[in-house]
Amino acid sequence: MQPGTTDTKCYQLTASQFDWEISKGKKIRAWGFNNTIPGPVLRAKKGDKIAVKVKNELQEATVVHWHGIRLPAAMDGTDNTQRPIQPGEEFEYCFTVPDAGTFWYHSHQNETVQMERGMYGALIVEDNTDPVFDAEKILMMDDMKLNADNQFKKGNRIQRWVERHDGRQGNTILINGKENTVITVNAGQTERWRFINASSARYIRLYFGGKTFKIIGTDGGLLEQILNVTEVLMIPGERIDIAAGPFIEGENFSIESLPYNRTTFVKTKNVQLANVMVGEAKPSIAFIPSNLRDIEPLAQQQAVINRKIEFAVDINLKHGVDFFVNGVTHHSDKPVNVGELQVWEISNSSLMDHPFHLHGFFFQVIEENGKAPGYRAWKDTYNLKPKSKIKIAWMPDDRPGMWMYHCHILEHHEAGMMGHFEVVDPMKGTTHSHHHHHIQST
Ligand code: C2O
Ligand code: CU
Repeated sequence: MQPGTTDTKCYQLTASQFDWEISKGKKIRAWGFNNTIPGPVLRAKKGDKIAVKVKNELQEATVVHWHGIRLPAAMDGTDNTQRPIQPGEEFEYCFTVPDAGTFWYHSHQNETVQMERGMYGALIVEDNTDPVFDAEKILMMDDMKLNADNQFKKGNRIQRWVERHDGRQGNTILINGKENTVITVNAGQTERWRFINASSARYIRLYFGGKTFKIIGTDGGLLEQILNVTEVLMIPGERIDIAAGPFIEGENFSIESLPYNRTTFVKTKNVQLANVMVGEAKPSIAFIPSNLRDIEPLAQQQAVINRKIEFAVDINLKHGVDFFVNGVTHHSDKPVNVGELQVWEISNSSLMDHPFHLHGFFFQVIEENGKAPGYRAWKDTYNLKPKSKIKIAWMPDDRPGMWMYHCHILEHHEAGMMGHFEVVDPMKGTTHSHHHHHIQST
């Protein structure tokens, strides 16, 4: 193949219900793609086209969202952009993947049930200029809430109330659909580990027993420089790529999640995610440049804000708990114009954390609580800490249509902590006519 030419990668995903063994003798009734959890890894090179036929063999409608991909609005996979795929129907998603990085796909319909049961998978986009590693691993992290019979079961009224408030925190930790994961790696080698937090609500404070590890990328691909850390917070929906190793033969350590207090009723404990075992030494060809790439700043910290969005929670003992964006559920936000830089202030007036996710576009955080962030990155999912404010910049490029942002705690999203808005080409005007949320043009 000539350099610069692109390829079309074709995939078939069938959504169905099946039995899935999460550990020896422990079976769950899963929902997923192609009878596996996670669904198959979809892979392409930057600039390739992907065509994915999704067949729905479930008893209910579904849609598939491509989290982090800058695709046309009509391919975004929400009930805002298409008619959900009905049982027995098929829908073909077709789009170009313009960015290299770690992405994922997941159901965007009845998510608190469909994603909980396993309807997600990884979408990896490679680039010829990527750092060179000896091997690569994808680690999709999830937690399921199972009862003693390994069944998904909604709790009583109070438990459901807590779940609506906290988001569903599971009791069964899965990496790539399995419990008690053991990761083996050769001594002397360096691997790329792509972590994806696919859980409904769990905040994962990734920790390697005190070892320093190197973050090389996040949602929108590589960072500019390696970030050396001993822990990193991964919120639902977020991705982190690390350079793991080189390790010493015989080394053995666990990957854990440290407790994180996000003001929930159910508190998290330290949990073991996986066990790493280092085998015999092998030669290495890994090469990771110190300058990974350049990220052009989209805006200065002082840039003038052109929209304010407030995430809020109201707890009231009679009615329960409500989740709002600018005072309403399922907020109908104002349109934005193609080519007009957006500088949004997103505040969180509540006492809980919320993972803010923007569909279809990457943003840069240019300020958090009055301070410039320590490094630049392309993000699509960012943690809103309690009583805090961030300022983000993003550019609506020429992909008009309906888009959305929301809290990636699935129960909060379901309760209405989201906003939808249209990207409008000012020369052509509004493009949508068919969807059911009506937006006034200004
Ligand atoms: Cu990953 Cu609208 O979500
Ligand atoms: Cu939330």
